[in-house]
Amino acid sequence: MKLINPYLLAITTMFVMSCTSKKEVSSLKDSYKNDFYIGTALSADQIEEKDAKVDSLIRKEFNAITSENIMKSMFIHPQKDKYDFTLSDKYVAYGEKNKMLIHGHTLIWHSQLAPWMEQIKDSTEMKAFMKDHITTIVSKYKGRINSWDVVNEALNDDGTLRKSVFSNTLGENFLVDAFKLAAAADPKVDLYYNDYNLEDPAKREGAINLVKKIKAAGGKVDGIGSQAHWKLNSPSLEEIEKTILDFSALGVKVAFTELDITVLPNPWDLKGADVNQKFEGNPKMNPYPEKLPDSIQDKLAQRYADIFKLLLKHKDKISRVTFWGVYDGQSWLNDWPIKGRTNYPLLFDAKLAHKKAYDAVLNLKESKE
Ligand code: XIL
Repeated sequence: MKLINPYLLAITTMFVMSCTSKKEVSSLKDSYKNDFYIGTALSADQIEEKDAKVDSLIRKEFNAITSENIMKSMFIHPQKDKYDFTLSDKYVAYGEKNKMLIHGHTLIWHSQLAPWMEQIKDSTEMKAFMKDHITTIVSKYKGRINSWDVVNEALNDDGTLRKSVFSNTLGENFLVDAFKLAAAADPKVDLYYNDYNLEDPAKREGAINLVKKIKAAGGKVDGIGSQAHWKLNSPSLEEIEKTILDFSALGVKVAFTELDITVLPNPWDLKGADVNQKFEGNPKMNPYPEKLPDSIQDKLAQRYADIFKLLLKHKDKISRVTFWGVYDGQSWLNDWPIKGRTNYPLLFDAKLAHKKAYDAVLNLKESKE
């Protein structure tokens, strides 16, 4: 009988162990450390470290954070004379403790607005509000927050200015004022304009014009954030690439700030949609309540690989890529635009295990290094 060669056995064991440990130590943030920050949005529970498993995943994989909700005006400035910084203090402390890039979301946005702000009637009141709101929040975290979404979603899909309490009282100037106030409160912090559907040529052009106008009026804009709430088939890689090139030609940083990829049917895609059609509770609109079929899992992985390959090609123009949430189970896309569905838009599944898409994103780097 042939004995096992102990020398060979030792070498094989060491080899297997080194392969396993390589997989164990690799992470998104380490793999992409020379390219751009890899971020995630944190819920209130995650800021408070309520679940140790989720917390260690966040610390292992990500080196940038965005506050998913807690800095929006309805939470941070619920009444005219009352700010609530309880959670934002914890959020900033969390980022500092873990040496992460800390992004503030968002100063001026028409959604999740405190109800009292909706009542602002004229330009004088609006100017006073903006000065107080922006100056108070930005100065409080001066030197501790790295970048801010100063204005979120000011545009309609055709690139024109959206009607809101801000534009109704101040017109387009509200953007100039907002960027000036933020820069005055913290001259070193990076200031971003953030919006969705920027890969659509009309809206992209609107954003480009907006940023040019703000700069021409003396405002400081350091970057544009494309939210990147994308689908399996759109936007096309060509439009994503044009967006990166066009924005960086303005001399600003490009960030992908809320990346996720829905795999579920979208009510707006339905041809001849009957407006009275009920989407909630309709099983056709929630096709994978138990498990994502392998074929779609593969498509999602391929889509993420294609996107990250393109982002790597333009890494010199991209500051940060942030996922909108840590894992599928917590994604806002389980409840939007239809409540109570099961979506699979991120790199980690509902049990926190990494998906094929995660491996696809990491493999782009590991095959090269
Ligand atoms: C979403 C949050 O993820 C949800 O929890 C909340 O109920 C609604 O807002 N664009 C943005 C984000 O800029 O702030 C939104 O976040 C998603 C769309």
